Amino acid sequence: MHDPSHTNPEPDFAALRERAFNLRWATVAPDVIPLTAACPDLPVARAVTDAIAHYIAKPHLCYGPACGLPAFREAVAQHFAREKSAAVDAARVIATNSAASAIALVARHLLRAGDEVVVQDPVDFLVAESARRAGATLRFWKPDANGRFTLDGLRAAVTPNTRALSVCHPHNPLGTLWSAEEVAEIAGFARERGIALISDEVWSDVLLDGARLASFAGVSPAAWVVYGLSKGYALAGLRIGAVIAPDARAAEEFAAAQGFDHTIEGAATVSQIAATAALDHCGAWRANFLAHCTAQRDRAIAHLRTLDGVRIERAPQATFVLFADISRTGIAEDVLAARIEQHARVRVVPGSPRWFGAGAAGHVRLSLATTRGVLDEALARIERAWPAVTAR
Ligand SMILES: Cc1ncc(COP(=O)(O)O)c(C=O)c1O
Repeated sequence: MHDPSHTNPEPDFAALRERAFNLRWATVAPDVIPLTAACPDLPVARAVTDAIAHYIAKPHLCYGPACGLPAFREAVAQHFAREKSAAVDAARVIATNSAASAIALVARHLLRAGDEVVVQDPVDFLVAESARRAGATLRFWKPDANGRFTLDGLRAAVTPNTRALSVCHPHNPLGTLWSAEEVAEIAGFARERGIALISDEVWSDVLLDGARLASFAGVSPAAWVVYGLSKGYALAGLRIGAVIAPDARAAEEFAAAQGFDHTIEGAATVSQIAATAALDHCGAWRANFLAHCTAQRDRAIAHLRTLDGVRIERAPQATFVLFADISRTGIAEDVLAARIEQHARVRVVPGSPRWFGAGAAGHVRLSLATTRGVLDEALARIERAWPAVTAR
């Protein structure tokens, strides 16, 4: 399975400084290490670049089918069947220009102004932002004392007016993963209450310690699932994702209502070709990547736990981000993040409402999908600078 020629060569940092935007290398001072937005530094698999090269060798970049190339839709369906316990028919899959766009379109499709939607708090801003943009009123599902989103917490958040539940599974930034039983319970609760369910599963390819994910697509006949390849296959710049609708008819209605039938929406064919190659041929690349992410997580936790005022109670089960509790430093998260950049020349994401909601206060998030060398350097810098960072 493991083919070293196709896995994890060293990144080209000069190229990253030109190309990696969204808070990353191209946007920071030359001496700053950005452990920021969740976009891996690692080069994509050779099968992906080969597939792109093969496709563009015939110089016809025409319109593709409105809902996506059949091969892409089938590859996503097979991937969910193989890895996420969800027997998905390809007719349910619609290719989208990114997971971010997919979640915004699903929210717009399902929600009307004033609808009440429950979202987790904290959670990646896109989940709440997509509901807000659809005009929804938000209610918040808080984690329990163990940092887990439980059914009791959901019950406390839901009201008789709740129209939808929008979840992030696995969870960014906490890195938690629901078991198959928990997924079934949450889906069952939503069904009983007549609540629509949206599950953002863009992180579902980044499972650590050999964990398995049960997709809501396999459990709930009414769930809308969002998927993307920016995390598990490092294809963020290709802006490629998918919506998995509850059934083929719902997929068709969604495509018509959201403008896929009119070329207003849709995904680039070359991105679908790359994504299809990733899903069909890059299992070994991803296995290597996940082993690397697991090792990075363990190194980062071991280092950060030695710092005064930093707590990481649970290792993430998924994602390549680490959400560190810095509340015991007594310094606000945005101030602390600014000081880390000033004194350690490392940028992290503060747990501010802008990025993760009010529930992220007292935390900073670090993205670990870089090389071991860069992570070690960043951690060493933070360690050295910690007295200055936390000085009163
Ligand atoms: C929870 C969540 N949803 C969606 C996205 C957006 O993914 P993409 O860039 O593939 O659209 C991200 C990216 O960080 C994310 O963390």
